[in-house]
Amino acid sequence: MSYPYQIKSFEGYKEAYEQSVKNPEGFWADIASHFHWRRRWGSVLNWNFTEPKIEWFKGAKLNITENCLDRHLDDAGNRPAIIWEPNDPEEHHRVITYKDLYLKVCQFANVLKNNGVKKGDRVCIYMGMIPELAIAVLACARIGAIHSVVFGGFSAQSIADRLYDAQAEYIITCDGAYRGAKDIPLKSVIDDALIGNRTVKRVIVATRTRTAVSMIKGRDVWWEDEIKKVETLGMTDCPAEEMDAEDPLFILYTSGSTGKPKGVVHACAGYMIYTNYTFVNVFNYQPGEIHFCTADIGWITGHSYIVYGPLSAGGTSLMFEGVPTWPDAGRFWDIIDKYKVNILYTAPTAIRSLMGFGLGPLQGKKLDSLRILGTVGEPINEEAWHWYDEHIGKRKCPIVDTWWQTETGGVLISNLAGITPAKPSWATLPMPGVQPLLVDENGHEIPDDAADEHGIISGNLCIKAPWPSTIRTTYGDHERCRKNYFSTYPNLYFTGDGALRDADGNYRITGRVDDVLNVSGHRIGTAEVENAINMHAGVVESAVVGYPHDIKGQGIYAYVIYNGTHGDETLTRKDILQTVTRIIGAIAKPDKIQFVSGLPKTRSGKIMRRILRKIAEGETANLGDTTTLLDPGIVEEIKNGKL
Ligand code: PRX
Repeated sequence: MSYPYQIKSFEGYKEAYEQSVKNPEGFWADIASHFHWRRRWGSVLNWNFTEPKIEWFKGAKLNITENCLDRHLDDAGNRPAIIWEPNDPEEHHRVITYKDLYLKVCQFANVLKNNGVKKGDRVCIYMGMIPELAIAVLACARIGAIHSVVFGGFSAQSIADRLYDAQAEYIITCDGAYRGAKDIPLKSVIDDALIGNRTVKRVIVATRTRTAVSMIKGRDVWWEDEIKKVETLGMTDCPAEEMDAEDPLFILYTSGSTGKPKGVVHACAGYMIYTNYTFVNVFNYQPGEIHFCTADIGWITGHSYIVYGPLSAGGTSLMFEGVPTWPDAGRFWDIIDKYKVNILYTAPTAIRSLMGFGLGPLQGKKLDSLRILGTVGEPINEEAWHWYDEHIGKRKCPIVDTWWQTETGGVLISNLAGITPAKPSWATLPMPGVQPLLVDENGHEIPDDAADEHGIISGNLCIKAPWPSTIRTTYGDHERCRKNYFSTYPNLYFTGDGALRDADGNYRITGRVDDVLNVSGHRIGTAEVENAINMHAGVVESAVVGYPHDIKGQGIYAYVIYNGTHGDETLTRKDILQTVTRIIGAIAKPDKIQFVSGLPKTRSGKIMRRILRKIAEGETANLGDTTTLLDPGIVEEIKNGKL
């Protein structure tokens, strides 16, 4: 497979960019002409950001799996589509060719059909990182069912909320999942999530850990038994459902500044074009190369750069079940040498955590197959960038710092590997088709002449016009989508991030400007964590802020007013952590809990988070104006009790 739209030089990037801004419709139509359509589009783009209404390739008919599977069969049927490395290095790995994957997806798509799943139905997928997860995702897409993958670290309560919001009738899960030394009982979590649920009709359970599970008659079935059934029925082929360009492909829940996660919806055609285009260009992907994205498919990074981007490009995607530090901190490096990985795409948190183990785990590791390195999910500090460059890339691999979001579907700002210049800790330039701008609080564009002595301007990051994989809606609540992203600044998509821009047009993302934390590259809303803490019987009120954390980027700091009868603070802390784990999942556990007798509030009762943030950051000297506080004395108490 060749990629006629692959950018080959900095000049080529500039030309493509200019073209994409001058004539976006022509630009994207050209790229789209290299995909497989059942029917061509009537118009390339219709949009306004006020409703918002965003339609790409309206009138076109397609199925994304025909682009990810069928169209590669003739030329690349025997090429590995997915290489799977199990959690335990002693267990056999699996190589799944395009032909195998096609057959397995068709087979499981027939299982879904046989179990009553139809186009437009929502299917919740809660699995570990085994090939069946990718197969389940693609099988949904094959028959036009809308998948909603939930990361395996979320609790039963979180799943229940998502099932309810999506009105999902089907679940695909595993008995359990292996992650490092842990064995996570996924099916049992699903059972808890389903207590009282009357909507879910069927749970399909794949075998992985062979932990004991309770299979409820009439509701729960085994993946393997269902496969046998369709085999007996002679159902092997599964023609792809013909989808409208704008039909939803999936829902993925993500945190915002309110207490309730939002179901971000992506549409079939635009998402396909954009993930493919960015995969091919950001990583400068060459046919035959092995791409190792270390994310979990439960996050957008896994959707776009383990599954849809690489497979639509006929690439080889390496999928890893385990964690970077088990059985030891050399695991990534072993995997890279074992499969001769060419592209490594990971999170700054993973790099910082591996840095902490020193150079020992790198001894004897060649890493000479690596050509490109990438980072995603959070700002990368210069120290981690240089360590990655020196010890992993051996100073010969370009590093791409890719900035994007669940809502953007694919990378919006990044250098192109080996093509456009890198700048440590800067995401650098926008992708063709992406028009960022920085605004002040009132939505006024910050002019270049507002630059400081280094030529840098700073503001809130917005995007002017849609790119093909712009969020289409938040599931079941379009108004929420409008309010969240398109109403802060009229006619702009607001990212929620702050950024800097230098005189060369490079962007550096400085972090969220709303009440969203980024912990180990995972988005968590402070309101969500507060709601979870407040569920604990002894808690009166709480306030959660982020603080700089050496490894996780941001840590979670909770100020808690507690009037429970328990005298033992350590135990109370543990109880609160247990509550958060139950309500959201272990990823949202506060790193620090400080008990306070009150919170700094304005006379109107608003918590002054700015002050709490500064105290958590250790900046107690200069707290700014505290005169508007109801009880300024509380600040002293909180300062003195800082952990
Ligand atoms: O704050 C930005 C940060 O992660 C947020 C998006 O999180 P999520 O939707 O979970 O998607 C993560 C994977 C794409 C952004 O609003 N972020 C993401 N990439 C970067 C980043 N911050 C700095 N640099 C990045 N490269």
